[in-house]
Amino acid sequence: MTISRTFLSAAVIGAVALSTMTFSATAQEANPAVEARQGYMQVMSLNIGVLGQMARGNTDYDAEAAQIAADNLVTLNQINQSFFWPQGTDTDTIEGTRALPAIWADFAGVTDVSTQYATAVEGLSGVAGDGLDAMRAALGSVGSACGACHDDYRQPR
Ligand code: HEC
Repeated sequence: MTISRTFLSAAVIGAVALSTMTFSATAQEANPAVEARQGYMQVMSLNIGVLGQMARGNTDYDAEAAQIAADNLVTLNQINQSFFWPQGTDTDTIEGTRALPAIWADFAGVTDVSTQYATAVEGLSGVAGDGLDAMRAALGSVGSACGACHDDYRQPR
């Protein structure tokens, strides 16, 4: 009885949440590629956040969790991002994005920071499970690579 009532209310809440999402997506005419790349960035952020919390001493270092988070960043980076960045989805053209036109104008520069990022996450996953100091040292390069790209290609708030 209790279980089915809980299940029912969860289902109702889910339905309400879904209809709200559909409504707001329609109202803002969200671009699916923009939504996808922002969500992708959020997933990266969640994983690097696990490591950042350990590096700052807010959570205990856990070798297994650190390795999972670092490996997730490597796996995420293996996604071919071609469909995330269609022409005409920059800040000059549409609402709801912080992607600067420089991404499309300076493809060589984006490739450079992407390579820098890839090297950094590979390095991190090589040592994430080897203790807090090793993980923290490698995490710095990853954070710098995220920041380097944001500095040049993401509109500041
Ligand atoms: C090669 C460039 C590049 C790299 C590397 C990069 N980002 Fe981003 N990031 C962007 C751009 C461009 C945007 C803006 C996307 C948009 O609004 O359409 C963005 C947006 C974001 C956002 C905001 C997402 C939202 O919901 O609007 C977060 C959070 C973020 N990045 C985190 C990270 C983290 C964490 C890393 C490193 C682990 C990282 N990014 C690496 C280019 C990059």
